[in-house]
Amino acid sequence: MKVLTILGARPQFIKAAAVSRVIREEVTELIVHTGQHYDANMSDIFFEELNIPKPDYHLGIGSGNHGKQTGEMLAKIEDIILTETPDYVLVYGDTNSTLAGALAAAKLHVPIVHIEAGLRSFNKKMPEEVNRILTDHVSTLLLCPTETAIQNLTNENITDGVYNVGDVMYDAVLYNKTLAESTSTILDRENLKAKDYLLITIHRAENTDDVDRMQSILDAFSQISETKVWPIHPRTKKKLEDYGFKLDQIPNLKVIEPVGYLDMLSLETSAKKIVTDSGGVQKEAYFAEVPCVTVRDQTEWVETLIEDANILTGTDTNKIVEAVQKQVSPSYTPVFGDGKTAEKVLALLKEKSI
Ligand code: UD1
Ligand code: UDP
Repeated sequence: MKVLTILGARPQFIKAAAVSRVIREEVTELIVHTGQHYDANMSDIFFEELNIPKPDYHLGIGSGNHGKQTGEMLAKIEDIILTETPDYVLVYGDTNSTLAGALAAAKLHVPIVHIEAGLRSFNKKMPEEVNRILTDHVSTLLLCPTETAIQNLTNENITDGVYNVGDVMYDAVLYNKTLAESTSTILDRENLKAKDYLLITIHRAENTDDVDRMQSILDAFSQISETKVWPIHPRTKKKLEDYGFKLDQIPNLKVIEPVGYLDMLSLETSAKKIVTDSGGVQKEAYFAEVPCVTVRDQTEWVETLIEDANILTGTDTNKIVEAVQKQVSPSYTPVFGDGKTAEKVLALLKEKSI
């Protein structure tokens, strides 16, 4: 069986590391890197650190408006599918690389496996929501991380080929946790004390592309006196420069370059709280049992909201500050599977193979 995997963005490299390692035991996998993320600290570092097999094809598409970026990917992936004639095209999550891979495969009648199917924010202004709805509606195997995702698909009359396999990011955390503990030196390098700082990540377009929302988030950071460490996404860095915002005026804020996955796991585990708009980081906070504050109006990961393990604040300054200061002690019930998602993906690929 030949599987063509399409990747392009940071979280997809992390998910693929967990899945490729397992499926390659019994399946021939070819990897296509679209080049959506291309900085060394957004791409190469993950391939090196997590031993992800070198991509068989690198499309070098890079950044651009949604239509152009997705369209260029679509054309090039189509050529590869025609050359390689895979049995399945495998896509992850909800980025433009996901949609391009799914569309190219659907038009050529190649079955699509969608890992992280069924997530919904019910906000179609998010590019991710459009990407995931369209991808789910052309997929053959819809591999969901949670029961909520299954229910979302049922509500859209998608029931064939739908399975709850758990969350592959949990596999990734379990596999790399010990390695991160033994090898990461990020706390020393950044002079951070465990449980004595907040970890921040912000990159969602709905925040970065809205000057008022960004101002409101930064105002909250100014009012929070604790040490804050912020590995800044290149999108956010660029936008803040465009807006003329000066982060060095925010007290006790360390802005650092994006870090590798092992350093990120270490930063997450040792944080007192995490403030984010990332999908993956919300879950990793939950896995690490570190309280999270999500500066978005919706979350796809509704399970994390139980007992204020994750507090959804939007971008209101006061709400962010209050949520960061709130004492919480949730019970962190396991709701994201058993860490054996990749094995379930492989079993389903074999069972359903054409
Ligand atoms: C993309 C995904 C988003 C995902 C995120 C993970 C879409 C529509 N969005 O958002 O769902 O959560 O990846 O991080 O697919 N840039 C660089 N270097 C890079 C990559 C990006 O400088 O290596 C800058 C460029 O200015 C670029 C901007 O970041 O224009 C946005 O990059 P893009 O890949 O379009 O979207 P992300 O915001 O990264
Ligand atoms: N991540 C990382 N280094 C960073 C920031 C994030 O390794 O500097 C990891 C993080 O641990 C998680 C994934 O990247 O596994 C999340 O990706 P991102 O926030 O870019 O995208 P999203 O999950 O929102 O799509």
